[in-house]
Amino acid sequence: MRTFLGGSGQEGEESIGGGQALEIGVFRENAAAFVEDAVGRAARAHQPAQAAAVDSRAACVYLGGLMRILVIGGGGREHALVWKLRQGPRVEKIWCAPGNGGISQDAECVSAGMKDVAGLATLAEQVGADLTVVGPELPLVEGIADEFARRGRAIVGPSKQAARLEGSKVFAKEFLARHDIPTAALYGVYDSPGDAYSALCAVDWPVVVKADGLCAGKGVLVTSSPDEATAFLERLMEQKELGEGGSRVLMEEALEGEELSYIVLTDGRDVLPLPPTRDHKRVFDGNQGPNTGGMGTYSMDGLISAELENAILERIVRPAIAGMVAEGAPYRGFLYFGLMLTRNGPKVLEFNCRLGDPEAQAILVRADFDLAEVLHAAATEGLGGKALAWKEGASACVVMASAGYPGEIEAGKRIDGLAEASEVNDVVVFHAGTKREADIYYTSSGRVLGLTATGASLEQALTKCYEAAGKIRFEGAHYRKDIGAVAAGKRSAAGG
Ligand SMILES: Nc1ncnc2c1ncn2[C@@H]1O[C@H](COP(=O)(O)OP(=O)(O)O)[C@@H](O)[C@H]1O
Ligand SMILES: [Mg+2]
Repeated sequence: MRTFLGGSGQEGEESIGGGQALEIGVFRENAAAFVEDAVGRAARAHQPAQAAAVDSRAACVYLGGLMRILVIGGGGREHALVWKLRQGPRVEKIWCAPGNGGISQDAECVSAGMKDVAGLATLAEQVGADLTVVGPELPLVEGIADEFARRGRAIVGPSKQAARLEGSKVFAKEFLARHDIPTAALYGVYDSPGDAYSALCAVDWPVVVKADGLCAGKGVLVTSSPDEATAFLERLMEQKELGEGGSRVLMEEALEGEELSYIVLTDGRDVLPLPPTRDHKRVFDGNQGPNTGGMGTYSMDGLISAELENAILERIVRPAIAGMVAEGAPYRGFLYFGLMLTRNGPKVLEFNCRLGDPEAQAILVRADFDLAEVLHAAATEGLGGKALAWKEGASACVVMASAGYPGEIEAGKRIDGLAEASEVNDVVVFHAGTKREADIYYTSSGRVLGLTATGASLEQALTKCYEAAGKIRFEGAHYRKDIGAVAAGKRSAAGG
């Protein structure tokens, strides 16, 4: 954050939108009021004094006040982050790298490579970002947080060491064992295809085969068929179909139960839980068809009992956060626990070092607090004393995808009905894969939009999502009609 001392930034704030600019004006007028306590805050701030020197805008110094934010990523999750962040009264301007067509209405989009952590850090310097929020896992696993720390820039996201919880499933599994956190029994870790094939003779069926490294959601197979397991190992380890991520695998026990996504925000010590969510990975209704990045999600009060939430926090979340501290790699940022709720209690299936997508969309529409302020605290002085407030009731996100997704798709289809969809009460249309030309939007990837709504009940939230979905048209558009249907007590939430 910075306070303007007798000058204003060179760049305008037009792209933030009229309402926001008005509030910025108010804050500019009141800027002097921030100065007094800002001096004290600056002393505590994590950004070293030199941070002001690398800021190209000489009129500004880091003392607290207005905030410039860079969001990294370009999907529905990042659109939800930008949408919520810009509601913060102290937010001056948001950039998004690379962003997408829809995001470009709410933030200035800048093209960027997700693996180029030095380039992303330079971008943060160039735009004078007081806070950077990372959406996807790739830059985190590549060490973006370390690069920002070296340059004295605030960032929400774990260090490279800490991001191994997602970047290496073997590391995560061994970490869970070291800290006695409930998870599926490990059969073994294999570096050579020969060892992996032989191990299949000794495992219980069904078995779970997992590639160690990042595989964009394609590196896990649960199967009762030795032939299928063998073929999967061959594709992973010999043909390297999913890249280096598949050259090492682990095999573990198959757990039974319902899955739950449990995400927390942590500064390494304090932990703030977000509403738990359920996702829908398969492309078609009734959990049929291939896996996707996620076709929809929901959250609702009472989704899990207080007793279960307590067990998740005490037996899983706190030991994990403390375990990372004990191993010298404190975890900061969003930490996603993929859980299986088994008869013997919740067990960890995996970690993600970020918000899920589309979980973030359903979570952030319920956020009733200043996300910019909370994330800035997470990245700097810490979360002590902060609490998160959530809209009561429920929320849901229904993903609309391109024909062929999750396989090959043809981009560039014109999207109609966006304005009508966003007029549906309590609906926010998040863009996952669109590009904008003048005021016309076109599809640009597999997942295109996330129709997201809040409601007093899950049923109400879903009704609004589907009403909005019904107003959108693009060639080949498809979406699941049964998001949250089981929980909402209906066979088909869309009535279809
Ligand atoms: N031990 C397990 N038992 C049963 N199902 C599992 C197990 N591990 C993973 N799965 C299933 O496979 C999916 C993907 O596995 P996960 O560990 O979440 O990896 P990723 O999301 O990186 O592909 C899970 O959402 C779950 O449905
Ligand atoms: Mg997963």
